[in-house]
Amino acid sequence: MKQIIAVDIKTRKVGLAQCKTDLLVLGRFSDAAGVDKDVKALDEKLGGALGRVAKLGDFAGKAGTSALVYGDGKIPARRVILIGLGEQKKVTLDTIRKAAATAANQAVNMKLQTLSLALHQAAQGKLDTAEMGKATAEGAYFGSYRYDEYVTESQNGRLGALKVEVVDADAGRLKSLNQGLGDGAVVGRAQSYARTLANRPGNVINPPALAKAAMEMARATRGLRCTVFDAGQLKAKKMGGILAVGAGSRSEPRLIILKYTPAKKPAKGLPRVALVGKAITFDSGGISIKPSADMDQMKLDKSGGIAVLAAMKAVAELGLPVDVWGLIPSAENLPSGSSYRPGDIVTTYSGKTVEILNTDAEGRMILCDALAYAARQKFETIIDIATLTGACMVALGQYKAGLMGNDDDLIAQLRRAADDSGENVWHLPSGDEYADEMKSKIADLRNTGGRWGGASTAAAFLRQFVGETTWAHLDIAGMDILQKATEYASAGSTGFGVRLLVTYLMNLTR
Ligand code: BES
Ligand code: MN
Ligand code: ZN
Repeated sequence: MKQIIAVDIKTRKVGLAQCKTDLLVLGRFSDAAGVDKDVKALDEKLGGALGRVAKLGDFAGKAGTSALVYGDGKIPARRVILIGLGEQKKVTLDTIRKAAATAANQAVNMKLQTLSLALHQAAQGKLDTAEMGKATAEGAYFGSYRYDEYVTESQNGRLGALKVEVVDADAGRLKSLNQGLGDGAVVGRAQSYARTLANRPGNVINPPALAKAAMEMARATRGLRCTVFDAGQLKAKKMGGILAVGAGSRSEPRLIILKYTPAKKPAKGLPRVALVGKAITFDSGGISIKPSADMDQMKLDKSGGIAVLAAMKAVAELGLPVDVWGLIPSAENLPSGSSYRPGDIVTTYSGKTVEILNTDAEGRMILCDALAYAARQKFETIIDIATLTGACMVALGQYKAGLMGNDDDLIAQLRRAADDSGENVWHLPSGDEYADEMKSKIADLRNTGGRWGGASTAAAFLRQFVGETTWAHLDIAGMDILQKATEYASAGSTGFGVRLLVTYLMNLTR
């Protein structure tokens, strides 16, 4: 897939006062006393303009704020932007990532060609330099991302390419930055790929089209193979959950399987991991139809599956020495004469029967087949990711994804990956009392629980399909949807989960 704005990122050895660029980017803490000598030299050439911004009280380094100063021919840079990093003691890699994203967002808004980032300089000694290189690259991709492939007018005025460089005069620091920059660019590109696929609407991406995109991606990526089960194969394999949900649409359901074989043999003791992602290309609710307000957002109900697809791309490009498969059940949930209905009893791949009480609880019905399939393939670890419940959004808002599971170590590893990647999670329960609510009198299970704790009952449903396998579930409902642009992200899909999953796998291998 072509990138919508082609971003190229490199390091360059140059002092701040010598840097020729459209926009030079510096970070500023709200509580830092004084500035280092590079910034001082720059400010002297600017006649003290940077210092004056602070003295006038226009800019105090608060997180989420910035100030623009023009070069006026006094320095080779056309503009300098100061980005607020907040308090020093609160700094994390995500501070750098968000600041880079803010700068890249502004650069695209101003239609600039070159962007020079020196954000890492402010946080020297507080964060690892290579990790800052990675976070900077991820942020530059994230902030410059736009989705406008169907806006015919944008062909005239839109920026085609953005050249990003991370600048420093110190050769040693550049070397460290470079170590992280390449990995960050791979992850950043994968996340942009995810956002474009997710943003594409239901009339463009249906299950067969998603399978085709997965095939194309795998063909272009070394180490990846893609197999797709079509409706006939799903029938032969008795994947009754995926088939039931897909029955109402003329676009037939699919199970997409991506297999990654690392060139380097994985270290002994590393688990074989299955990533399972929900890809409902459009969720109308089916016969239990949703209210029409905001129903258009349900094109993003494929985000979990797409996060898996993009994570697999990144894992292969990084050449991580770990055995991973991606399993993506995909269907379109529509009402029609052939839809599954409330009251139906569905026999799933596991053999367990499910009484359907609400056709809008379709995510668990496609996931349970893929989870049972993964469990039967003897993976040691299964992680699923899904825009599963509105209840999770009610509980956590749009700041954190719900994290459930049956293993404390895996929960801890995912919480660490969340901290490292800036994609946040919050641990929620999914134990027996929730599973008890999902019991049916006329089948093994029902597909909905009672009124309360919907995120946990949904997770407790899924838990019953993984057997004894170590398993975690990420409920990302709401996390992939930005209704309004922010200072560092454009509206639409955020690609949530790509960084989280890749970071979890990267952390396993070191
Ligand atoms: N895809 C939705 C969940 C969702 C809602 C995601 C809002 C993002 C924003 C899911 O398939 C769904 O409809 N869940 C139902 C479950 C209920 C019927 C038990 C829900 O949350 O209302
Ligand atoms: Mn639904
Ligand atoms: Zn759904």
